[in-house]
Amino acid sequence: MEYRENALNYEDYCTLRKSVDWQLFSEDQMQRALNNSLYTVSVVEGEQMVGMGRLIGDGMYYMIADIVVNPAFQKYGIGTNITNMLLKYVEDKTLVGGRSSIQLIAEKGKESFYEKLGFKLIPHDFCGSGMRKVVRK
Ligand SMILES: CC(C)(COP(=O)(O)OP(=O)(O)OC[C@H]1O[C@@H](n2cnc3c(N)ncnc32)[C@H](O)[C@@H]1OP(=O)(O)O)[C@@H](O)C(=O)NCCC(=O)NCCS
Repeated sequence: MEYRENALNYEDYCTLRKSVDWQLFSEDQMQRALNNSLYTVSVVEGEQMVGMGRLIGDGMYYMIADIVVNPAFQKYGIGTNITNMLLKYVEDKTLVGGRSSIQLIAEKGKESFYEKLGFKLIPHDFCGSGMRKVVRK
């Protein structure tokens, strides 16, 4: 199994989203999103796309998006490996004495996957709820 950095392309991105029944965005949006990613990880076994993850951010705030493992390959630690690579990217970019905040929205029921990777559920004592607004046109 090969873990590739910054090699996630449009076709593979669509294939993996479809493998877990996630809706696609428009082609233009998806191409721009891939181009604007800070860092991507894609996982390949032979000819088959197995998984992916993306990191978006500005050096202080980061967002993890599109952590997907093809159902045939789930529960083998691949999602953990992908997420750890994204976390290591932020760790490497954060200077000594500095701090960075990494955010994500867990799919319903997937919170424990991220808790095992060190994420805390919000709200908690120091933090209100995460919020989001979806724009449709
Ligand atoms: C969530 C997902 C990425 C996990 O990938 P994976 O490679 O199967 O996960 P791992 O094998 O690395 O599992 C790591 C741990 O998380 C747990 N875990 C895995 N899938 C889980 C799930 N669906 N719900 C809760 N916990 C889960 C595992 O039990 C494992 O714990 P353990 O080490 O104590 O056994 C994968 O199921 C997936 O792609 N799901 C569909 C897309 C999705 O929901 N992505 C997350 C978006 S927020």
